[in-house]
Amino acid sequence: MQKKLLEKFQEVYGGEGDIRSYFAPGRVNLIGEHTDYNGGHVFPCALTIGTYGLARKREDNKLRFYSMNFSKLGVIESSLEDLVPSEKAGWTNYPKGVMWAFEKRGYKLTSGMDFMIYGNIPNGSGLSSSASLEVLTGTMLRDLFGIEELTMQDLALIGQYSENNFNGMNCGIMDQFASAMGKKDCAIFLDTNTLHYEYAPVKLPDAKIVITNSKVKHSLVSSAYNDRRNESETALKDLQKVIDVKTLGDLTEEQFEAHKDAIQDPICRKRAKHAVYENQRTIKAVQALKDNKVEEFGKLMNASHVSLRDDYEVSCEEIDILVDLAWKIPGVIGSRITGGGFGGCTVSIVKNDAVDNFIEIIGKQYKEKVGHEAEFYVVDIGDGARKLS
Ligand code: GLA
Repeated sequence: MQKKLLEKFQEVYGGEGDIRSYFAPGRVNLIGEHTDYNGGHVFPCALTIGTYGLARKREDNKLRFYSMNFSKLGVIESSLEDLVPSEKAGWTNYPKGVMWAFEKRGYKLTSGMDFMIYGNIPNGSGLSSSASLEVLTGTMLRDLFGIEELTMQDLALIGQYSENNFNGMNCGIMDQFASAMGKKDCAIFLDTNTLHYEYAPVKLPDAKIVITNSKVKHSLVSSAYNDRRNESETALKDLQKVIDVKTLGDLTEEQFEAHKDAIQDPICRKRAKHAVYENQRTIKAVQALKDNKVEEFGKLMNASHVSLRDDYEVSCEEIDILVDLAWKIPGVIGSRITGGGFGGCTVSIVKNDAVDNFIEIIGKQYKEKVGHEAEFYVVDIGDGARKLS
């Protein structure tokens, strides 16, 4: 990939000077969904697919962007004086947002850049292509401008800040954190309240992680996401009138049950229920994995799906079809929606000898029920963002 990207870079921008290359992965979350902005735990891992980038500093303040995924758009020009979001800037709003966030943090970017990317995360699949592009941009800026004091965790936070404040999506920290901090063959058990984290080896000698792409993305995803976030916050405010908690992640199931009537609105009550139970499920699931109780882990994944479907209401018909089909297949240890929801992907843990059957049966029945094909990726867990040599 790097070779093709370099050839294209030379063709589009010319081959002279110090051209550097970087990679930042996408992620899949195993369990702990919609808990990251509720002070709870998440358990994502970085993938081996993601976004590749090449960059070179310029003598002037111009920014030139080119994506091999959108080659029809050609070179998109901007400048360091123009770091403001705009509809017509399209995908370049993500790298521009990160440049803006660097400057907000006091890191003056002293020259423009030529930037070229290629991503192999399927578009709109909910596997965090935008977070990977943000973390890629951060990794690139840190290196190009020699800003050594910034840690990978800082780059995750800067990515989230730009997504929240430049791109208007009020996301939590999970996606950027996974892309920046991922580790091969491990999932990251992250407490989003403190940013304390631990790498948990995902040893599945008899099973594989299979992602199934529904190939649907329902509209208004980011406004529905922001609504969920507001509903959770309303629930928390009501609870704070009767119990001393900072986030929903501070509550056990028992505490929630004892105080839930303080939440006035029944919808907000359901949202909070999900956030509390999902956080506790995530803690239990990580323990189960450590104890090699993979079946137990799978059951918690299934329960996570039910809660996201019924209480948090972020699933959709196509995703429920995929999960229902998966649950019926022998050798499926667990299956659930992954990521923000309203379409996108499911994640399943499937016994090695059941994977072919899984893909064949779900592939056929999904097509019959929905009218278009699903896509399957048997994935490996990779490392976080980095400079490539
Ligand atoms: C999106 C957001 C994350 C997280 C998930 C749901 O991926 O970017 O911060 O909230 O949804 O778990």
